[in-house]
Amino acid sequence: MKLAVKTDLLRCILSYILLLTQSVSPKILCHSQWIESNVSSTCFKFFDYKKSFKEAKIFCQYFGAILMIIKYCEQTKILSEELKFKNSTYWVGMRQRPSVSEFFWIDRTSSATTFLSWYVMAPQLPRSILVCTYINEPGIMKGLWAEDSCKTQRGFVCELPAVRTCGAKQFGLRCSGRCSKECGGDGECDITNGNCLHGCLPGFIGDLCNVACANGTYGDKCNFKCSLHCAGFDKKCDFRDGNCTAGCVKGYQEPTCQQPCGRGTYGQGCSRNCSLNCAGRYKYCNSTEGTCLMGCVRGFTGPLCDIVQEEPYDFSVLIVASLCGASTLAVLTISVLIWSREMVFKKQVKSPTGST
Ligand SMILES: *[C@@H]1O[C@H](CO)[C@@H](O)[C@H](O)[C@H]1NC(C)=O
Ligand SMILES: *[C@@H]1O[C@H](CO)[C@@H](O)[C@H](O)[C@H]1NC(C)=O
Ligand SMILES: *[C@@H]1O[C@H](CO)[C@@H](O)[C@H](O)[C@H]1NC(C)=O
Ligand SMILES: *[C@@H]1O[C@H](CO)[C@@H](O)[C@H](O)[C@H]1NC(C)=O
Ligand SMILES: *[C@@H]1O[C@H](CO)[C@@H](O)[C@H](O)[C@H]1NC(C)=O
Ligand SMILES: *[C@@H]1O[C@H](CO)[C@@H](O)[C@H](O)[C@H]1NC(C)=O
Repeated sequence: MKLAVKTDLLRCILSYILLLTQSVSPKILCHSQWIESNVSSTCFKFFDYKKSFKEAKIFCQYFGAILMIIKYCEQTKILSEELKFKNSTYWVGMRQRPSVSEFFWIDRTSSATTFLSWYVMAPQLPRSILVCTYINEPGIMKGLWAEDSCKTQRGFVCELPAVRTCGAKQFGLRCSGRCSKECGGDGECDITNGNCLHGCLPGFIGDLCNVACANGTYGDKCNFKCSLHCAGFDKKCDFRDGNCTAGCVKGYQEPTCQQPCGRGTYGQGCSRNCSLNCAGRYKYCNSTEGTCLMGCVRGFTGPLCDIVQEEPYDFSVLIVASLCGASTLAVLTISVLIWSREMVFKKQVKSPTGST
């Protein structure tokens, strides 16, 4: 018996050292009035209702809890602190089946394989009735174990898994893991396995968001394809936002090359303006070549409407003008002829005296 106690003491010391070496421990969150047991990552609570072991077990289940399992000496220390002010005894989750010498915790682990903390000697003899374990026999040492018929009515201790929390964007047993920088939303990940909780940033997939989109795809869940209008042999684009790596082919808008050039622009990077000589209200031109789509305004020609036209309008004016000129000249000439004829006639009328 003494040997067993010594072994437990040694194990207790070892487990304590192990605890101390865990430099950054997760914080444990317990609901109000539940007490934290950081060594087992659980929260426990005393209930003073008098119940049989079986009834107590069912009662704990209302909270999603179980009767307390004590596997670490640290738990006994915490318990004895709490029990200083209590006079009742409380069921915990260990029992002995009839005719079996071993005691088992309700998670089916044998008490012999874990920490032992019997009030007197560990009960050895198999009994003919179901025997259960409680804590807080009156005396100096609180929190040690004693056994009794499971039917006895007494208080009990329920235990819940604790909500374990690491710091922001940390995960892992000792919070030593860091959530992937590519986790979406608030960037948080599952505290146990690091899986991103709110999807991935654009360009990444996988539970850990550590897989970049395959070549030729990009964006949210890699759902988008690089534009066919990306320049370059392989038409590559950025796996996050789809910006074409080598720019766009002529006639498409940087950076993703999904849209043709906007109204009134064309060419490489849509950097050129359609000619102001294009016809139509909006001066539309072909986004690739800049050819005016509705022809040119008067006086210009060529695909880009940049060539000054030999103006048919001026030519007709010329004809009209020359016709006018010609007719004026004709009228004048005729007038002069008539006038000079009259003069000759007048002279001939006056001349008979002179000529005779
Ligand atoms: C467990 O809690 C006790 C008391 O709050 C504290 O002294 C101890 O450092 C904690 N241990 C760990 C591993 O967090
Ligand atoms: C427990 O018992 C002691 C002595 O019998 C008494 O002084 C104390 O008030 C009791 N405490 C409670 C919580 O009943
Ligand atoms: C993606 O492109 C890179 C560089 O061009 C190449 O090394 C890689 O093998 C490609 N991956 C796939 C899956 O095609
Ligand atoms: C893609 O283009 C946008 C808009 O020009 C720019 O803000 C962003 O930084 C570019 N992304 C990359 C990876 O170059
Ligand atoms: C195109 O037109 C805009 C305004 O309409 C002007 O600001 C810009 O300088 C022009 N670009 C070229 C290349 O002429
Ligand atoms: C622009 O011109 C190119 C080459 O002539 C032609 O293939 C394309 O269909 C034209 N685009 C539009 C919008 O008319």
